[in-house]
Parts: sequence; C-alpha cells; structure tokens
Amino acid sequence: MLQPEKFRCLRCNAGGFSRSSTVWVCEQCSQAYPCVHGMPKLYIDAAIGLQDRKLRDKFYDGVFGAFYAFMMPFIVLPVRPAAGAWWHWALYLATCGSMLVLAAGGVWGFIAGHAVLATTALGVLGLAVWFLLRQKYLFDLLLLAIPTKLSILKSRFVPVETFADVHRRAIASLSGRTGRLRILDVSTGSCNSLYKHGWMSLDGAYTAIDLSAIMLKKGQDLMAERGIPIDLVLGDALDLPFQSGTFDVVLNYGAINGMTDPGKALAEMTRVAKPGALLLFLDEQMYATPSRIERLYFHNVLSSHNVIHHCPVELLPADLEDVQVAQVYEFYYICTARKRGPKTSGLEGRI
Ligand SMILES: C[S@@+](CC[C@H](N)C(=O)[O-])C[C@H]1O[C@@H](n2cnc3c(N)ncnc32)[C@H](O)[C@@H]1O
Ligand SMILES: [Zn+2]
Repeated sequence: MLQPEKFRCLRCNAGGFSRSSTVWVCEQCSQAYPCVHGMPKLYIDAAIGLQDRKLRDKFYDGVFGAFYAFMMPFIVLPVRPAAGAWWHWALYLATCGSMLVLAAGGVWGFIAGHAVLATTALGVLGLAVWFLLRQKYLFDLLLLAIPTKLSILKSRFVPVETFADVHRRAIASLSGRTGRLRILDVSTGSCNSLYKHGWMSLDGAYTAIDLSAIMLKKGQDLMAERGIPIDLVLGDALDLPFQSGTFDVVLNYGAINGMTDPGKALAEMTRVAKPGALLLFLDEQMYATPSRIERLYFHNVLSSHNVIHHCPVELLPADLEDVQVAQVYEFYYICTARKRGPKTSGLEGRI
C-alpha cells in the first residue's frame, strides 16, 4: 500500500481502515468492504448508477471484458491504421465470408433438394444473425466496417494536435515539479492506457480505480508483470473513495461519455485533484466533417453505449482552468485542464 491515508469511507467519509487481503473495515463506522483478488471493493453496490451498472454487468464483467484485448480492437477496426490491424481484418473478412457461404449453401441446398444441407446452413446462419442482432453494435460493425474505412481514407483528417502531442504537452507541464507525483487513473480497466502513454516516465505514485473486477484483474496482472507498484481499487468514478485534494494528476481514458452522470464524474475527478493538478480525459467525439457513413458508424457502433457523444465542456466544474480540447482522431477528443490554485510545490507533491 503506497498511501493508505488517501482513502475515505463511502458511508461516513472518514479515513482510516483496518485492512487485510480479504476485507477492509472502516475504523469510524465499521462498514466492511470485501476484497476481490486482494483489491478492496470501495463502493456501495446499491448506489451505482443505472448505466454504470449496465455497462459493468453486461460488458466489462461479461464476455466483452473477459476478451477485452481482443474485442476492443474490433470495435475500432475502421479507425485503426490497417497495417497494425491486418489480423482483425482477416478475421472480419472470414466472418463475412462464412456468412455468405452459409447463405449460398442454404439456397443451393433448397434448389438442389438437399434438405439437410439447406436447413443446417440456414440454421447456423440464423443463429449467427440472432446473436449479432442481440449485440446490435456488432451487427452494425459488420455492415459498416468497410464503407467507414473507405470513407475515412478519403477524408484524410489531420489533427491540429496529435494524441502524442497532447501527452507530450501534458507531461512536460509537470516537469517543474519536484518530489513524487500522485497519479490517479479513473476507469483504468486493464491499466493499458496508464501504462502506455508516458505516465510511467514520471516519478509517480500510482493509484487506479475501476468498477469492473474482471477489467481490474487484468490491470493487476499487467502491473505485476511489469513490476510497477500501484494501489488498485474497485470503485465508482461517480463517488470516488479518496480524500479531496489528493492527486497531482487525474486521468480518465475512454469512460466519461458512457457514465450515468458524466458531470458528476468530472466533479469527482476535480474534487480529488490538488489545486494546480492536471486533469486529462479522452473519449468519443466526431470530427467537424464526418460523412453520413461515418456518422452512422459513430452512433451505431463506437458511441452506441454512451450517454453523451462529445467532450462535455459544458459540464466541467468551475474550478478548472486552462481547458483545452484536442480532436486527436476522427472520433476521439482529449481534454486537458488544470484545477485552479497554485501549482503544486515540491513539498506538496512529495509523499
Ligand atoms: C473502454 S474501457 C477503458 C479502459 C482503460 N481506461 C483503457 O484505456 O484501456 C472503460 C472502463 O471504464 C470502466 N467504468 C465504467 N463506468 C465506471 C464507473 N462508474 N466507475 C469506474 N469505472 C467505470 C469500465 O469498467 C471499463 O473498465
Ligand atoms: Zn465509515
């Protein structure tokens, strides 16, 4: 445990827990928080918002979460550079090809009087279509991936500031700080973004939180594999189990737009940030000139489970300043901001 004093009890707001690898108990009100894989479940299940619960139970704690590293690249297939996605494209084409073969086999079976062949082929095809229609976004992905890819190739979108530029700017803005920075990644999932986008180059004390046990276990495995000390917590972004004014950097990759109350999530990220701290979050937003097919893909696939579909600048708390929104890809923004107040001095940043 890197910094036990940063936590708070969701029931009574006090700090101070008696901790074991199976349960944390609040020393003030005796609320017990069980652990999953040694990580405390610092949320009260009945208080979770409807959409957050739905995403947790249907996606992240389900098949989508279990195969996240495989599924996610599929969803963003048309947006990714083809060179790095050839394997997924091959699988996509194989799936489309198999469905066409089944349809053709069924029709030919009927015409040629092979009843067994016809019913088997159409039965399997029917099952596949039934499955895809239950996951409508997958069905739409199947239909839209190629036209969207072609449309994106034609549009030749060039960001004013790239994904890497924004990260360089954000990380450079922290370079004057001395002492260890307290870095929080909200909705960290598999800790993939926290690990990959430059935050590990800082002298950081890392904390990461997510609502899904399946996703966070992946994060736990990645961090253990890389030997990175980190405090991992199961918790709700809409009611963070941390004391106010704790972190120098607060991140959120790919989750704000899908939350029950994105404004509340931003207010919570701001509350737990120190004065002068950096906030950075990324999610879906269309660029200025999407084609009709791109709009369809965006709304039916990429942003289909979201509550909002743009960077929620209108919901940002008033105590944020220096707000900058960069359209880093055709369908993604990154927003950076600073919490009003003096930049954290060396001593404040130190732990
Ligand atoms: C698209 S994934 C992104 C994961 C990771 N940040 C990344 O960049 O790979 C969204 C994550 O948000 C988490 N999430 C959704 N609602 C949440 C909430 N209310 N509180 C905390 N995490 C939440 C999900 O469990 C999931 O792991
Ligand atoms: Zn308590």
